[in-house]
Amino acid sequence: MHRQGPNTETGGGTQPRKWRPGELDAGFPIVGREDFSDTTFRLDIDHPVMAKAARPGQFVIVVMHDHSERIPLTIADFDRDKGTVTLVVQAVGKSTCEMQQLCHPGVALYGMVGPMGLPSHVSGAKKVICIGGGLGVAPIFPQARAFKEGGAYVIGVVGFRNRDLIFWEDKFRQCCDELIICTDDGSAGIKGLVTKGIEQAIEQHSDIDEVIAIGPPIMMKACAETTRPHGIKTVVSLNPIMVDGTGMCGGCRVKIGDRIMFACVDGPDFDGHDVDFDDLMNRLRRFKEEEHLALAHWKENCRRPGQERS
Ligand SMILES: Cc1cc2nc3c(=O)[nH]c(=O)nc-3n(C[C@H](O)[C@H](O)[C@H](O)COP(=O)(O)OP(=O)(O)OC[C@H]3O[C@@H](n4cnc5c(N)ncnc54)[C@H](O)[C@@H]3O)c2cc1C
Ligand code: FES
Repeated sequence: MHRQGPNTETGGGTQPRKWRPGELDAGFPIVGREDFSDTTFRLDIDHPVMAKAARPGQFVIVVMHDHSERIPLTIADFDRDKGTVTLVVQAVGKSTCEMQQLCHPGVALYGMVGPMGLPSHVSGAKKVICIGGGLGVAPIFPQARAFKEGGAYVIGVVGFRNRDLIFWEDKFRQCCDELIICTDDGSAGIKGLVTKGIEQAIEQHSDIDEVIAIGPPIMMKACAETTRPHGIKTVVSLNPIMVDGTGMCGGCRVKIGDRIMFACVDGPDFDGHDVDFDDLMNRLRRFKEEEHLALAHWKENCRRPGQERS
């Protein structure tokens, strides 16, 4: 399911390719974009086959142009009727900042591989809490919707730094029986972290079957520690550094109990009570210096052709 187009129109291979409707070798056309904040944006990609195959919990590996690195991004939504796949991206480093600058309707991604990873196991649970923190809010959405479609009572808990960063509240209200919004500064919903929202939900419902949490590792670790004393099954979606996404490179190695697993093929979902989060966070820090240098270098040189240095 990997189609890619030559990048002849832009000349240099460092920009996504422009496309015209009807072109067959156009790569993966971007057909929609919405900016949620100054760092986070949504992209809709025209890809009917991927939209048909995608399941909640899976991800894609995106190559923006033919000089880009491969980056894993969760399938945040898919529309089988429209034939689109939705990604929500947070600009945190060189590649994601470049996507923020260059990915708009009218251009096409050079490569998009997937759907990858094991689909989330949408169990027969009757009552679940679906937790998304920050960017994890987008990937938790298809899981919340799948549980709702499966007949579960769904409590959504979504956390943001402040009210200006909130997105998809309406989508969550449509698939959640209850929605608890948490903000760090109290500008909307409960003041505090998503763990406060979990505690509130557990206090009000003694019959929670399962908790699913997606977000930064530190948040998922805190969620797992909140549910552990209650003995509630807690599934988390891990985001180690991935390279090939096919189990070959070993980059995404994670420690789950006494086992070593590869998040790209054995996950990305795992039992949160078994995950060694400290090891995951250490491994995510391995290339901090190189990432910092790559971003600084890109910022220095990122002006589009014709843009003058001020
Ligand atoms: C299964 C999975 C799903 C993901 N889903 C999303 C998503 O939906 N939206 C989103 O914005 N981000 C998602 N990420 C994280 C995203 O892949 C990284 O933010 C991105 O690769 C960073 O690249 P960069 O060049 O912009 O930043 P860099 O400066 O290179 O890295 C910034 C940080 O991102 C992480 N990172 C870097 N390279 C990779 C890599 N190849 N694989 C994984 N993490 C990396 C590291 O923690 C690093 O410190 C996901 C990661 C995984 C593994
Ligand atoms: S990304 Fe290479 S083994 Fe998982």
